[in-house]
Amino acid sequence: MTEKYKRYLVTSALPYANGPVHIGHLAGVYIPSDIYTRYLRLKGCDVISVCGSDEHGVPITIKARKEGITPQQVVDRYHQLIKTSFERLGISFDIYSRTSSPVHAETASAFFRKLYDEGKFIERTSEQYYDTEAQTFLADRYIVGTCPKCGNDRAYGDQCEKCGSTLSPDELIEPHSAVSGSVPEKRMTKHWYLPLNEYEDFLRRWILDGHKEWKTNVYGQCKSWLDGGLQPRAVSRDLDWGIPVPVEGAEGKVLYVWFDAPIGYISATKELTPDWEKYWKSDDTKMVHFIGKDNIVFHCIVFPSMLKAHGGFILPENVPANEFLNLEGDKISTSRNWAIWLHEYLDEFPGKEDVLRYVLCANAPETKDNDFTWKDFQSRNNSELVAVLGNFVNRALVLTTKYYNGVVPVAGELTDYDRATLAEMAAVKGSLENNIETYHFREALKDAMNIARIGNKYLADTEPWKVVKSDPKRVETILHIALQITANTAIAIEPFMPFAAAKILRMLAVDRFGWERLGASDLVPAGHTIGKPELLFEKIEDDVIQRQLDKLAVIKAANLAAEASQNVEQQKDTIAFDDFQKMDIRVAKILAAEKIAKTKKLLKLTVDTGIDQREIVSGIADRFTPEELIGRQVLVLVNLEPREMKGILSNGMILMAEDAAGTLRLLQPDGEVSNGAVVR
Ligand code: MF3
Ligand code: ZN
Repeated sequence: MTEKYKRYLVTSALPYANGPVHIGHLAGVYIPSDIYTRYLRLKGCDVISVCGSDEHGVPITIKARKEGITPQQVVDRYHQLIKTSFERLGISFDIYSRTSSPVHAETASAFFRKLYDEGKFIERTSEQYYDTEAQTFLADRYIVGTCPKCGNDRAYGDQCEKCGSTLSPDELIEPHSAVSGSVPEKRMTKHWYLPLNEYEDFLRRWILDGHKEWKTNVYGQCKSWLDGGLQPRAVSRDLDWGIPVPVEGAEGKVLYVWFDAPIGYISATKELTPDWEKYWKSDDTKMVHFIGKDNIVFHCIVFPSMLKAHGGFILPENVPANEFLNLEGDKISTSRNWAIWLHEYLDEFPGKEDVLRYVLCANAPETKDNDFTWKDFQSRNNSELVAVLGNFVNRALVLTTKYYNGVVPVAGELTDYDRATLAEMAAVKGSLENNIETYHFREALKDAMNIARIGNKYLADTEPWKVVKSDPKRVETILHIALQITANTAIAIEPFMPFAAAKILRMLAVDRFGWERLGASDLVPAGHTIGKPELLFEKIEDDVIQRQLDKLAVIKAANLAAEASQNVEQQKDTIAFDDFQKMDIRVAKILAAEKIAKTKKLLKLTVDTGIDQREIVSGIADRFTPEELIGRQVLVLVNLEPREMKGILSNGMILMAEDAAGTLRLLQPDGEVSNGAVVR
């Protein structure tokens, strides 16, 4: 590995303390960072992993307002919940701090003050939205309106969650206050800006020339920000929640949350160790930021510019940001309760911490958004953890107990196959290390599991349970080897599944090994007595999964109802009866349906209208399969002017109901009626 580094500083995005942590956070940030950190520790490296709660910013004050409590009460509640949930899942931060800590206030203020004193900021007075009812300036999420890019009418002053664009309040169409709902006026206010444009050259050289090895999603985002040209960014806000701007005449102003939060990494390190400067100020420290993709600009552009402006600090060597994890096909959303919350999982699946760690790593959105489904969770548990890993370890331990009373037998002469198996096992180490060190954790997990696969195959091929009758001496060798592979499994899986690793070691009755022992075939000596075998993983039954699916179905139904009722389309202008009568709507049966080649959405339908048989092109291929449609009676507007689409003459229109949530339903008579029946 990178010999030039003597120590590692691993940071994980500070979660906002305005809600619990969910599987998206875990898969994107905390599982990868924990794997990386545990691996380095196991190798004996000098590594610290820092994190903490991000306790400032508008989302927290909005939550407090909504619940009628103070922002401090909000962050106290979620800080505790998040901290203990991480611990229960075995996320092994060296410190989990919080940005409301005194050390942090001091550190962030001093940071700002140094930049201020050295003239690194621009001071600007400009007009900003002000809510006269609530008597407050409206920054970031305090202001909502229509997104100029996609038309979403619930875009925020800093971002549109629908299309992902970064916005400024001035770009919003029809802005209104999220606090009072009123239409804001503009008032003059003074703020401090970090002139990012002055750091463009530095950033280009450092990232675009110097870090071509960064993940393509990260590098690409940086490039597009830099190519678009950087603007000065405000680092203060008119708010009463946050770290006061440490400058005279700045009453009512606080540091912008994205200015103070990343400094939280420094404060947390300070709280952890008096030696903190060693980690932050020596070139032989390798700093790695684990984050989700929505944090890329802050960690690759803004924070590095802050560090550069300040001077004396190292920059991240890598920022392996992940994409997003979806849940059962839909975007995870805190406000819509569409998530699997870590604390709930831990309560509902006691003893299955490693199962979640495993599934989220195996499915991590490393290069593209990915989907978590309960079915996949179940099948990875049953067919990988139980059937491969658990099965192998269990067979090795149980057979040793059964045949030798738990005493590790002596290996006799090895066969070629034995040697090949051990060599194959030893060869996993290189690939596993390379994958972890290049942040390919999914592949790394496969490598680790490969050791158990090798063991499973070894037992299946050598069949000790049969051979024991004909050649008991041979079985001693086989199980001796199987136990060495078992111990190797414990080393390899530890970064990913620390609980299972510890359990294997306990069952083997051996001490923890260092990473350098991975690949060795003398880990458990002959004559050593192992402990009592227990199951490593348990099968997860269908009813357990069904309960989770049912729980999600209830949430989904509630969300759909809420959205639909919020967004019912306005009634159109009144029409005369004659206008209505012009429409000739008939019951018709769909006789045939096929996808139109080279289109995504179009289906060619053949319908019997009672009047004739005709073709209709309908843009519903993404919602219905041809099989679902054939044979159904539907309503058709038959006298609609024919229209050519993709070379096919579409002669009418199938009527459908669509709600605001985008759910599409065919309209169907409530009983049998002949084709051609008139609808009026
Ligand atoms: N709280 C932010 C989020 O959840 C992350 C902050 S990371 C830090 O998106 F660097 F600012 F700390
Ligand atoms: Zn948008």
